[in-house]
Amino acid sequence: MQTAPIKPLKPWFQTVEDVGQHLNWQQLFGNDHPVELDIGCGRGLFLFNAAVTNPDTNFLGIEIDYREGRRTATRLSKRSLPNARVIGGDAILILSQLIDPHSVSAAHVYFPDPWWKKRHHKRRIFTDQFVQLLARVLAPGGALHSWTDVAEYFDLNRGLRDQHTDFDPQEPPPEREAAHDLDYHTSFERKKRKLGCPVYRGRWVRNGQ
Ligand SMILES: C[S@@+](CC[C@H](N)C(=O)[O-])C[C@H]1O[C@@H](n2cnc3c(N)ncnc32)[C@H](O)[C@@H]1O
Repeated sequence: MQTAPIKPLKPWFQTVEDVGQHLNWQQLFGNDHPVELDIGCGRGLFLFNAAVTNPDTNFLGIEIDYREGRRTATRLSKRSLPNARVIGGDAILILSQLIDPHSVSAAHVYFPDPWWKKRHHKRRIFTDQFVQLLARVLAPGGALHSWTDVAEYFDLNRGLRDQHTDFDPQEPPPEREAAHDLDYHTSFERKKRKLGCPVYRGRWVRNGQ
């Protein structure tokens, strides 16, 4: 059986191998506007809406699942959005090796995979190392937004960040009514709210000079 050729989506989608050993914001976006990360961007509802409504901010989605990353990039490419890109790869590697320290103005982590079974908890992305890496890439004053519908995972994440001396907790945004089907923060938020699940929202700010 013949498979369809993979559509080139550059510059909206690139893999870690494509970008080399260092992410240069000026090269990726063609300007020096602030950069925000959407870690585990999935189908990219947040990335797309945020890029459309904030044209003077650059948004980089990081997605380990290339199919999802390419799907998001297709959406961005159809609008020729100049301020949104997706990198296919592991966020841990990208945060630790490809991004300059303190070069990011916000990081968004929405509905990270919960890995429900206890023996799979070690696969969860929120660890001490991850929080350390977020502190590494965020500029002082930069915000970390993280939402989930899993109360126990949220408590664990909150604990990690509240203990971390580089982060100060802030008041998270309140829930608001969605005006239509695309008026949700992310696809997972829509899915969970339609199921009647509570959503736990957190916001922290990277302190320091
Ligand atoms: C439950 S989905 C949430 C997607 C999106 N944030 C939302 O709220 O709709 C979690 C996403 O994180 C991605 N992911 C998991 N581990 C990752 C990693 N280490 N690096 C990058 N993406 C990752 C998964 O492939 C998946 O698309």
